[in-house]
Amino acid sequence: MTKRGAFICLEGLDGSGKTTQAKMLAEKLKDGYNAVYTAEPSRGKIGTFIRKHCLYGKKRLSSIVEALLFAADRMEHVETEILPALQQGRIVISDRYLYSSIAYQGAAGLSIEWIEKINEHALKPDLAVFIDVDPKVAMRRLKPNKSVMENLETQQKVREIYLKFVEKGILVRVNGNQPKNAVARELYIVVKKFLDTFH
Ligand code: TYD
Repeated sequence: MTKRGAFICLEGLDGSGKTTQAKMLAEKLKDGYNAVYTAEPSRGKIGTFIRKHCLYGKKRLSSIVEALLFAADRMEHVETEILPALQQGRIVISDRYLYSSIAYQGAAGLSIEWIEKINEHALKPDLAVFIDVDPKVAMRRLKPNKSVMENLETQQKVREIYLKFVEKGILVRVNGNQPKNAVARELYIVVKKFLDTFH
């Protein structure tokens, strides 16, 4: 069997602290593992287009077009960054992945089955974690320059969808309503337990 690393994704609301946690986790894992941090929307052509035209643009594209763009960006991210790193035996920590599309585009009214269908070629993560915070707390943490996704009603719907995937055992919940270092400790315990039994 070829040597393969592990693919971990972190999910959460805007303002949940997941970017800070993903970066801290990748740093901590560097002690003993060859870990790398990455994020979606990606830094590639499609990710750059999304930031400009979907998240901060004045005129929004339809939810269907947005979902297709996120799926296309994800495939490019998998092909150019995630898979090559895994093939080198690295631990990839992705700040957002497939479940962001399910939760956010699902909250925008699209069917979860269809979102899963257009993402069927995207590699399944080996571990997917949801950093759960109270949407009101998450909203208070956001900068005034909010993206179009960042309003309380959307955030509440997004959280409900994430929690359904926690119930199904697809996402592992970490309590994000704690001080930063306590969240980091809880997250590290979940990840370490997974890595110790993975290979
Ligand atoms: P975010 O993690 O906030 O990126 P940054 O901090 O760099 O701006 O993600 C940007 C937004 O994109 C966030 O509101 C969630 C949204 N999003 C989707 O709606 N669908 C997706 O598939 C992804 C990856 C993100």
